Amino acid sequence: MRDPRDHDEESLHRIKALPKVELHLHIEGAAPPAFIRGLAQEKKVRLDGVFAEDGTYEYRDFVHFLQTYEAATSVLRSPEDYARLTRAVLEECAQNGVIYAETFISPDFCGGGDLGAWREYLHAMQEAADAAERDMGITLRGIVTCVRHFGPEVAKKSALCAAETAGEWITGFGMGGDENKGEQRDFAYSFDMAREAGLRLTTHAGEWRGPQEVRNAIEHLGVERIGHGVRAIEDLALVDLIAEKGITLEVCPGSNVQLGVYPKLSAHPIQKLRARGAKVTISTDDPPFFHSTMVQEYENLARTFGWEEEDFTEIAKTSANAAFCSADTREALLKRLESA
Ligand code: ADE
Ligand code: ZN
Repeated sequence: MRDPRDHDEESLHRIKALPKVELHLHIEGAAPPAFIRGLAQEKKVRLDGVFAEDGTYEYRDFVHFLQTYEAATSVLRSPEDYARLTRAVLEECAQNGVIYAETFISPDFCGGGDLGAWREYLHAMQEAADAAERDMGITLRGIVTCVRHFGPEVAKKSALCAAETAGEWITGFGMGGDENKGEQRDFAYSFDMAREAGLRLTTHAGEWRGPQEVRNAIEHLGVERIGHGVRAIEDLALVDLIAEKGITLEVCPGSNVQLGVYPKLSAHPIQKLRARGAKVTISTDDPPFFHSTMVQEYENLARTFGWEEEDFTEIAKTSANAAFCSADTREALLKRLESA
């Protein structure tokens, strides 16, 4: 590690060019605004209040962000739309040097929780992902996600879709949405169903609520990864527990700063969590909503915390080891990271 100001342009360039692994990416949240605008025009749908004058997404705060996200998502109405979205998202990922990504996909948005429709959406996305892998060498896996503010009964439908389609491509189950609604334990039934189907588990926790929420996620849902989890830093015994249990935090620094969880990156706890032994990884969450990319995240972290190539390589390996993929896929991924 070096003094944050010391990065010369050459070392920054090398850091930005490193191969990356992204574990926390919402597929709709990764939709480029121009893609959503284009689709809205094709379908002659008016999208009020979604875009700012400069064409980027616009929202006031976290709850309004979720509403804007859902409004933008409303133009995605068919398996073909999701296939095109998958391609657009993977092109963006590949341009940022991402070689493996996992994306959250929600049956609520893909067929409204109907299993037959869900299978069609998945088939279309998987075909697009396979083509992207052939064309750009990027691998994608899907994590089926329930939406917390839609409630536990709706989540059960998502869990059933997840359980019925678990396999080489759908490898995980998770939960996003408004952390201030309900409790983690309300969703235990859905997480149990997913676990029994062989899916790996993650949930958003400790983004908006404090450390107790992270403890609840570990205790009540038995997750092995936590989406964000950053507010665990407010309870060091919890950080030690996370380290001991080998739980991986899907940290999205740019998202946290843009949404106001922390006022600036230098106040973000990623460095402290890592120093205390928690497994931290780097992701973008919903990149165009937060004016971010993986390259931008790397650059900002390098400049703010003085992280060097070795730090990012170690974090990418941590991500590969925590990836919800088969042993073969992981081995291939680690080889690519090592040979870079
Ligand atoms: N869905 C998309 N982005 C999210 C975030 N940052 N937190 C919770 N749910 C989300
Ligand atoms: Zn998220």
